[in-house]
Amino acid sequence: MIEKVGVVGAGTMGNGIAQVAARSGHEVILRDVKEEFISRGMSAVDKSLQRDVDKERLSQEEKRSIISRIRTTTEWQPLSEADLIVEAVTEDVRVKTEVFRTLDELASPSAILASNTSSISITKLGAATKRPDKVIGMHFMNPVPVMKLVEIIRGIATSDETYEEVRALSEKMGKTPLECNDMPGFVSNRVLMPMINEAIFALYESVATRESIDGIMRLGMNHPMGPLTLADFIGLDVCLAIMNVLYDGLGDPKYRPCPLLKRYVDAGWLGKKSGRGFYEYGDGVRKEVNREIVNGK
Ligand SMILES: NC(=O)c1ccc[n+]([C@@H]2O[C@H](COP(=O)([O-])OP(=O)(O)OC[C@H]3O[C@@H](n4cnc5c(N)ncnc54)[C@H](O)[C@@H]3O)[C@@H](O)[C@H]2O)c1
Repeated sequence: MIEKVGVVGAGTMGNGIAQVAARSGHEVILRDVKEEFISRGMSAVDKSLQRDVDKERLSQEEKRSIISRIRTTTEWQPLSEADLIVEAVTEDVRVKTEVFRTLDELASPSAILASNTSSISITKLGAATKRPDKVIGMHFMNPVPVMKLVEIIRGIATSDETYEEVRALSEKMGKTPLECNDMPGFVSNRVLMPMINEAIFALYESVATRESIDGIMRLGMNHPMGPLTLADFIGLDVCLAIMNVLYDGLGDPKYRPCPLLKRYVDAGWLGKKSGRGFYEYGDGVRKEVNREIVNGK
């Protein structure tokens, strides 16, 4: 029975996971490396809950009690009390492996260690510990409080018991857990990223303008957002890293990242977060970018 949930990383995903865990009645211990990252994370939680208060979906009192269930720390030790710890740190295999080694040392022997990774092998993270049967992927989607899915990834050694506990916890958090095996990109990114990459190829090969590509997928396929806009929101560096994981991990040339994607990342055009990707962003308004540059080869 999972009562206390540890969360490592108070960034975009970590603070969302802490919020949904606390909202579903769990005690949460949230760790990041610096106080300023924690305050940023907690103010995101506050803002997100306030939106629900404003819409009368939550009372002020409930909001206060959710926040009071989240204990924050820059230390490792408080996490030793947790029944399950979700790692949501930077997507870097070295950083994550180190976090898993540390958690394995300090966590209670019965604790489950989960990763929110988008693409790193759960089997590899499990192998960094002495409890690979208790290591699993819990891939929440962004924004965590809104998105229903948790993609649950079973590493080669993950036990059925671990899977069952994580499935039950995800449901308690109000999410829909769907299971898959540990293969590069899991299901979500194995299907999504090649579609985005193909949209970039279509732009690169001047099949259509970015507006047409996005419009065709929105209006014709009923996607809420065109693939180029979605890539800008995800971050082009993240898209490139995931394509490389698919390409290296599956060894099939169909996953090769589009040269235009590489060029944009080299230029520092990372999408919305850097102000420019396939579109330009400034003052909250998306501006058109020079089509010649976008279509340049
Ligand atoms: N952002 C998304 O849309 C999204 C969606 C699904 C999954 N993910 C995955 O979630 C994970 C986190 O992504 P994010 O977007 O929240 O990143 P982020 O950069 O917003 O946050 C990462 C946080 O981890 C902290 N951190 C780094 N090392 C740490 C350590 N040793 N201990 C504690 N904190 C540490 C950083 O200070 C930072 O605050 C990644 O694995 C990413 O692939 C992201």
